[in-house]
Amino acid sequence: MKKLVIAIDGPAGAGKSSVAKVLAKRLSYTYLDTGAMYRAITYEALRRGVSDEAAVTAMAETLTMDIFPKTDTMHVTVDGEDITDKLRGTDVSQHVSKIASMAGVRAVMVKLQREKALKGGIVLDGRDIGTVVLPQADVKIFLTASVKNRALRRFHEMKDNSESISLEDIEKNIQERDWQDSHRSVSPLKQAKDAILIDNSDMTLEGTADAIIEICKLTCDESN
Ligand code: CDP
Ligand code: CDP
Repeated sequence: MKKLVIAIDGPAGAGKSSVAKVLAKRLSYTYLDTGAMYRAITYEALRRGVSDEAAVTAMAETLTMDIFPKTDTMHVTVDGEDITDKLRGTDVSQHVSKIASMAGVRAVMVKLQREKALKGGIVLDGRDIGTVVLPQADVKIFLTASVKNRALRRFHEMKDNSESISLEDIEKNIQERDWQDSHRSVSPLKQAKDAILIDNSDMTLEGTADAIIEICKLTCDESN
């Protein structure tokens, strides 16, 4: 099968990264978690105490971010330090949408993401992959699920990680991020016109991956 570029966009907790990991494993592709990149910038901004747009952009332009796809998760290093396990905490989740709305920060991240996708054989997940980062992607999926479902999924995940946060608070964070992500002026979260919508509220992870693999096969057949 041709080495495709697969773009998966959608709101928080829709299953993008879990599905993307399954796809990458089954197709022997690279997985690029673009949300982790925005989370890494947010973590660094919080750690360094920078918050205004000019300062955060200058920081993003000067730090060295490296991305290492591994089997368990995608590892992110900033200036050589692996900060992967710091990226999913509540503090980062609460600030990430604001940082991700900064045009200068996005320009730096998008450049890196396009470089990584050049060779194909890659699954990227995020909010603007099909619309802005790689509008020519071979397969574009807009993955979603109900807010209740997405919050519950995150709740189970965080309970497993022993972080104490209520289901109500998770649902609130998800709704706030969805609103901010889809109402910002730069690269808002929205379904690309040619993306295929999948609501996986009542689908398993494997079932969702199966559906996307079928779409990939059809895409390859069409291009032959
Ligand atoms: O995993 P979850 O859906 O909770 O979030 P994520 O994919 O880790 O992304 C965290 C945040 O980064 C999102 O809420 C967006 O504000 C931002 N983001 C973005 O703006 N553009 C992307 N391509 C990916 C993430
Ligand atoms: O990346 P995104 O924020 O879109 O979602 P995720 O982190 O991949 O998925 C959130 C949680 O939902 C994970 O624990 C997945 O295992 C779970 N999930 C599920 O239970 N059923 C699905 N069809 C998709 C995801």
